[in-house]
Order: sequence, then structure tokens, then C-alpha cells
Amino acid sequence: MSVFANIKKGRCVEVHALDIAYEDDPFENKVNLSKVTYRNEKGEIWVFPVVRQAEKAILDENDHTACSSAFGSEKFYKIATKLFLGSDSQALHEKRVLSFQTISGSCSLRLSAELLCQKLGCKIFYVSSPTWENHILVFKNAGFEEFRRYRYWNPITRRLDFEGMMEDLENAPAGSVVILQPSAHNPTGCDPTHEQWARIADVLKSRKLFPVIDCAYQGLVTGEVEKDLWAVRYFIAKPTALVSSYASPTPQNPTSHGARIVAHILSSPTLMQEWKDSLKKISARVIEMRLAFRTALERCGCPGKWDHITSQNGLTCYTGLTEQQCINLICQYHIYILKSGRMNISCLNYSNLDYVVKCIHETVTKIPY
Ligand SMILES: Cc1ncc(COP(=O)(O)O)c(C=O)c1O
Repeated sequence: MSVFANIKKGRCVEVHALDIAYEDDPFENKVNLSKVTYRNEKGEIWVFPVVRQAEKAILDENDHTACSSAFGSEKFYKIATKLFLGSDSQALHEKRVLSFQTISGSCSLRLSAELLCQKLGCKIFYVSSPTWENHILVFKNAGFEEFRRYRYWNPITRRLDFEGMMEDLENAPAGSVVILQPSAHNPTGCDPTHEQWARIADVLKSRKLFPVIDCAYQGLVTGEVEKDLWAVRYFIAKPTALVSSYASPTPQNPTSHGARIVAHILSSPTLMQEWKDSLKKISARVIEMRLAFRTALERCGCPGKWDHITSQNGLTCYTGLTEQQCINLICQYHIYILKSGRMNISCLNYSNLDYVVKCIHETVTKIPY
């Protein structure tokens, strides 16, 4: 018998299970709203044109020194850090920043977690309720003893529960780690205002809590990276210890290939501008689809309030639909959506919008909240 025979198969991640079910579904008008990454108006993955250009250019470079140390490509992380913190960052000038390249956003979180847990002795970490589920797995597996949730989503108002969040952070034991997302919060799409970020920074400092800032979607809220990174730069300007994980908004591989593409783009003002223009374009489409979705739901008299759809930010949209309603959308209408009601707004387009809205209307009427 194989030595691997008794290993229990892990639970399939919900998005992947939905992907498989969607692919197997022969229904012509099926819609998959659960995809993780950006889709264009045709429902396709969209590679930034500037990335294609950079790929061609680096093929000719023949540079084998691009990823020469354990810290990854120096050119990449130096230029990415500048973009992240701003070239006028006081922290950069005072040499208070350590950067390196990891294979992905999850990996940078894992390294942050190991540093905090194994080197600094932190024992408890806090995540928003709800959060991107990998946060919990990654931090637990790094050795943390306990995790707690701070309030974030208020299902009644369908908005950020800021006072609940503050109360939970004020009661957190000193030395706890707090995972925060600066923009386009996954999964709720709800972000604090600047004033609220300032209050969060104050409570972290006064309670001696350790922020880990996970930036996965900068640029997808306003179309401007700098604006979406406001909270990060505010935190850095305050002398608060900070660990930050940063996923590049351009598709990036674990190898030097992705790092070279990003470094190539960010070191050319023309290519950087093209990348920023593309970001503006996709964030504008996301905002347009949010408005079209809300308007169509309101126009057909779909029970409930839908203004939260346009008050949320970024790709993920927390619809407020119940688990029963989501199951009905999948089983009866072939619309694949996560049980939490989370969907990717960019999966909506003018070809599937009317069908999705009609099915939500029928579902919410048949299965009330
Ligand atoms: C909140 C959040 N953090 C980090 C990541 C990055 O994950 P990856 O490991 O795929 O780069 C994601 C991607 O879905 C995310 O949503």
C-alpha cells in the first residue's frame, strides 16, 4: 500500500468547487460570479497590454542576474517599495524599511506571520469578521496560538461596523497582531474613511497592537495607486511598527519573470503611465457595473435595499444575499456565487446583467431574508 494512502483529502476551497461545477454545467446562460480576478466586458481574464510589451522587451535583455539573492530581485523590490510608500517617504529616507520579494501575496503574509510569531513572540492575531479565509489558515499554520475576529461587516446596515471594530480593538490584549486591508476589503468591499483610519491608528498605538497591512487591490478603487494606498502611507508616517504584505496589481509569477516585468514597467515613465491608464480603465468599469447592477435591481423592484452595492469598493461585492438564496441561485438558475453572498463585480457585463438581476429578484421574492 502506498505510504500516502491514509492521507485524508482536504476540503475543496469553495471558489474552486464552484469553478468545477460551473465548467461541468451544460446550461447555456450559466454565469460564474465567484471568480477571484478581474474579468473584462467579455468575461475574459485581461492581461494589461503594457505587460505584454514588457514581456517582449525582457526576452531580448538576456539578464540572468535579475533574481540573484534570497531576497529576490533587488531592482524589483526597490522600485515597488518606492511606488508603495512614495519616493518622498520619510521612512525610506531614514532607512526604516526592509523590503524583499516573495512568491505571492500569501507567501508574504506567511513570512510576516512567522516573523511576528516566531521571532517577536506574538500569540494572538485578529482578523476582520468576515475576512479573506486564507488569512486565518496562513497565520495559524505559522504558529499563532489563537485567532480572534474584530467586528467589520454589519449585516443590518450592510456597511462597515466601525464602532464595533473600535470596541473590539480597544479590548484586544497588548501585543496582539491585527490584520488590516487598506483598500477594496476582501470580501466586503467596505473601507474605512481617512478619519476612521486615523482613529484605527490611534487605538493600535495606544493598545500596543501590531498592524499587518495586506494590500492586494491598490488602484482598483479609485484607479490611482497612490490614493488607494493612503492608509498605508498614513500608518508609515506615524512611527508605528508595521509589517506589510503587498501584491502587485500586475500578474506576477513567483520566479524572476514577473519581477522583471514589473521592474521594467515601473522604471519607464511611459510604461508606468500606460499601466496607470489601464488601472483607471478597469476601475472605471468596476464602478460602472456596480451602478448598473444597483440601478437594475432597484428598477425591477427587487425586495431589499441595494445602495450598499455602490458604496462598496473594488472587485468584491458583498451582496447581503443569504446562504439559502445563494444556493437557490446556483441550483435553480446556474448562477455561481459564494454562500456568503460574495461576488466579483467584474464578472457582470451587459450580456449577463439582466439575467442575473431577474434571477436575484425571483429568488429574493421566493426566499425572503
Ligand atoms: C486579501 C487578499 N490578500 C492577499 C491576496 C494575494 O494572494 P496571492 O497569494 O494569490 O498573491 C489576495 C488574493 O486573493 C487577497 O484577496
